[in-house]
Formats: sequence, C-alpha cells, structure tokens
Amino acid sequence: MHNLFQALKKFTNKQEVPVISREAVLWGYRLFLDRDPEDEKIILEKMARLKNRKDLRQDFIQSDEFKMKNPSYLSTALSGNEPEMKIEEISSEAELQILFKHIQDSWQHLGKTEPYWSVLTSDKFLQANIQNTNTIADFYESGEHDVSRILETLERNQIDFTLLKSCLEYGCGVGRITQWLAKVFDIVYGYDISQEHLQIAKQHVDSKNIQNIFLHQIEKLNDVECLPKVDFIYSVIVLQHNPPPIIQFIIRQLIKALNPNGVALFQVPTYKLGYEFSLQEYLSGKAKRGEVEMHVLPQNQVFKAIRQEGGKLLEVIEDGCTGLRYKEMSNTFLVQKE
Ligand SMILES: C[S@@+](CC[C@H](N)C(=O)[O-])C[C@H]1O[C@@H](n2cnc3c(N)ncnc32)[C@H](O)[C@@H]1O
Repeated sequence: MHNLFQALKKFTNKQEVPVISREAVLWGYRLFLDRDPEDEKIILEKMARLKNRKDLRQDFIQSDEFKMKNPSYLSTALSGNEPEMKIEEISSEAELQILFKHIQDSWQHLGKTEPYWSVLTSDKFLQANIQNTNTIADFYESGEHDVSRILETLERNQIDFTLLKSCLEYGCGVGRITQWLAKVFDIVYGYDISQEHLQIAKQHVDSKNIQNIFLHQIEKLNDVECLPKVDFIYSVIVLQHNPPPIIQFIIRQLIKALNPNGVALFQVPTYKLGYEFSLQEYLSGKAKRGEVEMHVLPQNQVFKAIRQEGGKLLEVIEDGCTGLRYKEMSNTFLVQKE
C-alpha cells in the first residue's frame, strides 16, 4: 500500500515521466496473465515502478500468478538434451584457499560499497536510494517470506519444526532473513564471509533488541569446518556466488554441522547452458566475472556432497531464485542427517 502511494505520488507530481506506457502494462497483463488488470491504480503503480521493458517482463514472469498459470514454463526450462558443463574439480586446500580469498575480497568490497543492493539487486536498494527508512523496512520485510517457505517445506515433508531448536544461517548478509528465523528458533547463528555485511546485521539486530542471534564471520576457509552443531541450517542466494569447488566444500561442511535428524535447506544453481569453470582461466581473470559472480554446481555433485556426509535427500525444489532465465536452473535441497 505504501509503495503504491509513493508510486502514485511520484507519478501525479510528474517528477518522473514513466518509460513504460499504459498500453505496455495492459498488454503485459494480457500476454502473461491472460487477463486485464484489476484497476487503473495497478497500471499506474507498474508504470511508476518499472524502469524498462525487461523490468516489466520480469515483474510478470516472477509473479506467483504467472507461475501458477504456466507450470510448464518452469518445468520445461531444461529439456534433458543439454550438454554437460565443463567444471574442473579441485581438491587441493591451497587452491581452495585462493578461491576463498578472492570471494572474500569481493564480498567485503560489496559490503563497503553496496551492502543492501548486493543482497537484493533491485535499484531501490542502491545506497543512493536506500537512505529512506521505509525502503530499509521493505528490505527487511522481504525476509519473512523465506520463513514461511521454510515452515511449509518442513510441514510438507512431515518434519515437526518445533523439535528443531537451533538454527544456522549460512551467508546471513545484513540479517534480512536472520531476524525472522529468530522468531521460530530458540537460537540462531548467522555466519557470513563479509565483516561489512555483518556489521549492518549487528546494528539491525541490536536496534530490534533481538537477543537470540549470534553473528560470526567466516574469516578463513577452515572456519567453515568449525561451524557449531545445529538442528537446522538455511542458506539462500549465497552458494551461487562461490566457484563450484567452494560450493561443494561448503555443502559438505553444512551437512557435517547437522545434529542427528537435523535438517538443512539450501539453494544452489545447478545448470546454466554454456557455464564452464577452470581454475587457471578464473584466476587469470580470463573467465567472465560480473561484479556479483554467479556460479553453478551440477545436481550430481550436490548429491555426492550430501551422500559423503551422511545426509538423506528429502526434496529438490525448482526455486527460480536466480530468475527464470533460458536454460538455467536453480534448486533448493532439503536434506536430513541420518
Ligand atoms: C546475496 S547475499 C544474501 C544474504 C542473505 N542470504 C539474504 O538472502 O538476505 C550473499 C551473502 O553471502 C555471503 N557469502 C558469499 N559467499 C560466502 C561464503 N563462502 N561464506 C559465507 N558467506 C558468504 C556474502 O557476504 C553476502 O552477505
């Protein structure tokens, strides 16, 4: 409601001329949702909020209504004819440490420059735009959805969440989801590679006077091997920013950190057409890296890591966490420790 008000105000003040036309929004509804918009307000809201056609398309494609009406769109993203991705396996600790250091430098830098946008890459969370307290509130509110998804996933798999007392969030960032986890679990550990993100998380937790969250930095690769034993582990939009050998290493450590019958729910992209990883190319800077790197670990490698640490795979969800892009897949894995 608040967003709508702001959007309308912006529009009626004529401070910004919308790039998206009324006609484009109308046809967005017809083409993606097979219906006309509810009312004029919703058209104006989209015109004010969305900056270009790509935003408009994503807005419809990411909506629950589109996904409900087009289940085959999600499931046919991969046909089964896709080729294997060329991913070099690395197990030498020295090489893993070099990769880890690179990721750490990059996230500390993002934490200094764009702590909120680096978590949710929407323009409204850029430093230039986020100073408004309402925008920060919107940012933190978005984490509530994760907790309802966790609870529904556990329920669907007949896991009684009240038996899970301790929780570890791996890659907690600025505490967007952590604060909501603290409402469900007795104790929540938030781990992150970036001191900069953790500092903001700490300020947020203190400002809310939340007493059951304990934040820690992963300063070196070996810290991942010393995580506390817990009943529940959660990690979303984190592993994808690490090269595949690091993803595999972390998944193993997460499963290791579970108490018997403990449960982990973590997300990782598992296929991307044309994705390759070679250590030499990567370190020499020849590999194409965005400011926020995106990586992939194939499902068979995820399964292997889970098996190696005595985890039982309960469910694999197609989550669309990386957006619905052509020939890309992201999955959330629900795993229970035997
Ligand atoms: C996109 S943000 C997501 C934060 C949080 N999961 C959320 O959804 O609000 C990714 C976070 O993962 C952290 N991260 C990336 N690689 C990591 C690693 N190898 N170990 C621990 N944290 C990591 C980053 O510092 C950053 O805070």
